[in-house]
Amino acid sequence: MLNPITVHLPKQPAYSYPIHIGAKFLENIHSYLPKVGSTAVIITDDTVKALYALSLHQSLSKAGHKTLLLSFPAGEVFKNGQTKSWLEGEMFAEACDRDSVILAMGGGVVGDVAGFVAATYMRGIDYIQVPTTLLAMLDSSVGGKTSINTPQGKNLIGAFWQPKAVIADIACLNTLPQEHLINGLVEAFKMYLTSDVKSLEFLDQNLERILARDEVLLSDVVHRAVSIKASVVEKDEKDNSLRAILNLGHTIGHALEKLSEYKLLHGYAVALGLLLEAKIAERRGYLQAQQYLFIKTLLQRLNISTSDLKKFDLEAIIQKTKLDKKKRDEKVHYVLLNGLGSVYETENRFAHVVDDETVRRAFDEVVKK
Ligand SMILES: NC(=O)c1ccc[n+]([C@@H]2O[C@H](COP(=O)([O-])OP(=O)(O)OC[C@H]3O[C@@H](n4cnc5c(N)ncnc54)[C@H](O)[C@@H]3O)[C@@H](O)[C@H]2O)c1
Repeated sequence: MLNPITVHLPKQPAYSYPIHIGAKFLENIHSYLPKVGSTAVIITDDTVKALYALSLHQSLSKAGHKTLLLSFPAGEVFKNGQTKSWLEGEMFAEACDRDSVILAMGGGVVGDVAGFVAATYMRGIDYIQVPTTLLAMLDSSVGGKTSINTPQGKNLIGAFWQPKAVIADIACLNTLPQEHLINGLVEAFKMYLTSDVKSLEFLDQNLERILARDEVLLSDVVHRAVSIKASVVEKDEKDNSLRAILNLGHTIGHALEKLSEYKLLHGYAVALGLLLEAKIAERRGYLQAQQYLFIKTLLQRLNISTSDLKKFDLEAIIQKTKLDKKKRDEKVHYVLLNGLGSVYETENRFAHVVDDETVRRAFDEVVKK
């Protein structure tokens, strides 16, 4: 097991928490379980229930813990208010009190909904993130953003509510479909691009073995990405400035996700966003041609090609970017690389206005080659 990473929250030190990455998470979970008499509520989806949550439930029950297992169907469409209300109803029915602890076991969907239940149940109870997808391990389980989707859009209702701990068992990744592994790897790549040249070299040198699920290397991938995310969250817990860097590739990525009606996985949409936004940075002189090529080549090794962008209508992409959350004064903002491992910053601003014409030219250049 690698050394735990601690997310220090300077404004509220009592809410700082450890992130454990490795195997044998059951041993770690034990020390975070509720007081005698209160309930450990495992919230999961049906897929993860069958794979991991049932055995967690059994082992906690055997060890004498009062344990409740709640699961809902897998998939983004269930990250909604009905699921949240149903979970709360079940918890009330089992007399879960303020000392109960939620174990959010699953991907980002489970983590976001279960975290939001924890944030609001009896005005807030403890929860532990037990992520089982790569994306959840290195991104969504860390940082305390919890949410549900509404008919108006994704993640529009939610709360900042930090977990008591994150316990990531890399062995869970053995059952993860390959496209979900790549989905998470894109987010790791994005984080390294914003802040960490050494991790870019590490990814470049080890990508094939990582794709073949070498556990030691996968632990390293998660550890490196979580270190970056933890340090960003420590400096900007509520997403007011620096945390914007994590949106690299996301102005275009979110537009593509919407255009595909969320059929394109988030990481794949962000990958195409990284390409186009890197080209914009190159056009602005912040990124060298060789550096753009590095990004393109690494994504190709993940089976993500520039030709995938051709499936989208450029003007429709531009229209969708106008709904981006980073928009200010009616202008669309982008996080732009400033070389590899760094983002462009002026006056503590990390997202910058890019006009439509620049996006059009960058798009043409990306898809032509
Ligand atoms: N809170 C945040 O900061 C944050 C950050 C990024 C993404 N998110 C959210 O995360 C969600 C996406 O998360 P995701 O990509 O993990 O998707 P997901 O939770 O839908 O999981 C993907 C699929 O993998 C299955 N699965 C999970 N673990 C598995 C395992 N070990 N083996 C086999 N199958 C497994 C799930 O049942 C599901 O079908 C989105 O809703 C997104 O908005 C949140």
